[in-house]
Amino acid sequence: MRSATTPLDLLVPGPEHLPPDPAETRLAALYETPAGTPSVRANMVATVDGGAWGADHLSGSINDDADWRVFRVLRAAADVVLIGAGTARHEGYTALDRPAGLASAAEQPLELALVSRSGRVPQQLTTGDRPPLVLTGAAGARTAARMLPADRVLALPAAHDPDEVDLRAGLAALADRGLARVLCEGGPTLLAAMLADHLVDELCVTTSPLTVGPGPSRIVAAPPHGPVDTPAGGVPAAPPAPARLAHLLHAPGTGTLLARWLLR
Ligand SMILES: NC(=O)c1ccc[n+]([C@@H]2O[C@H](COP(=O)([O-])OP(=O)(O)OC[C@H]3O[C@@H](n4cnc5c(N)ncnc54)[C@H](OP(=O)(O)O)[C@@H]3O)[C@@H](O)[C@H]2O)c1
Repeated sequence: MRSATTPLDLLVPGPEHLPPDPAETRLAALYETPAGTPSVRANMVATVDGGAWGADHLSGSINDDADWRVFRVLRAAADVVLIGAGTARHEGYTALDRPAGLASAAEQPLELALVSRSGRVPQQLTTGDRPPLVLTGAAGARTAARMLPADRVLALPAAHDPDEVDLRAGLAALADRGLARVLCEGGPTLLAAMLADHLVDELCVTTSPLTVGPGPSRIVAAPPHGPVDTPAGGVPAAPPAPARLAHLLHAPGTGTLLARWLLR
């Protein structure tokens, strides 16, 4: 179990020391997004050598207490957590509880939304009384509707292929339900698609003071059937897009760095 009592230093702008604070008032102010204004924030953790998971194929083996402090603050301030079905399966997501006791915590329950082409919802999410929303395509909607109430399945067929998911339409559908502040917790396949469609306003990246070698993916990954006739991983680089550093936190005990990058 992670602890939220690790001290942090704010390096940029700064320096400023952020001691443990059960209400996380200062951290909440640093990550504030106005309620009701649509925003998409992605939060990911990577090792120094770029890995998105550890030997157990889970991000829990590369994150730490410093990451946990920010993770809780971001969840407290979100309307909905958006994840790919792969992350739900690997990480065993269940219905989410908003972190308690934080200054910024919104009132309403924290929703979970799953993006899935297949519509295959992990079993642990189909049995409770707070099922996730599923953003899927035409075929996936038929599959998901066998597992979830009809009003939790959002069929969002893409124009070029009805079985693909129109992610932009998905965000609009969430906003229509009052879920304007979206926190995308990955995984790498979903994040790559969101970035490719220019749907991410900010990217919070924790750099863990670890290396894990070439096995794990980066925090963005190509879908399994991407182009293969290009060097180094098979997918050409996207044109470079700028990112602006809003702030940088440093955990003096470990060296963990937590950056908030604005993409627009
Ligand atoms: N480092 C981090 O911060 C972090 C964060 C999250 C996860 N992870 C790790 O990442 C690994 C999982 O990686 P992943 O890339 O498989 O995760 P993922 O993106 O969550 O899952 C991929 C699956 O999600 C669905 N999906 C994603 N993008 C889609 C799109 N644009 N349209 C339709 N469906 C889409 C598809 O589900 P269907 O198969 O149902 O069609 C796809 O197979 C795990 O090891 C997890 O621990 C790391």
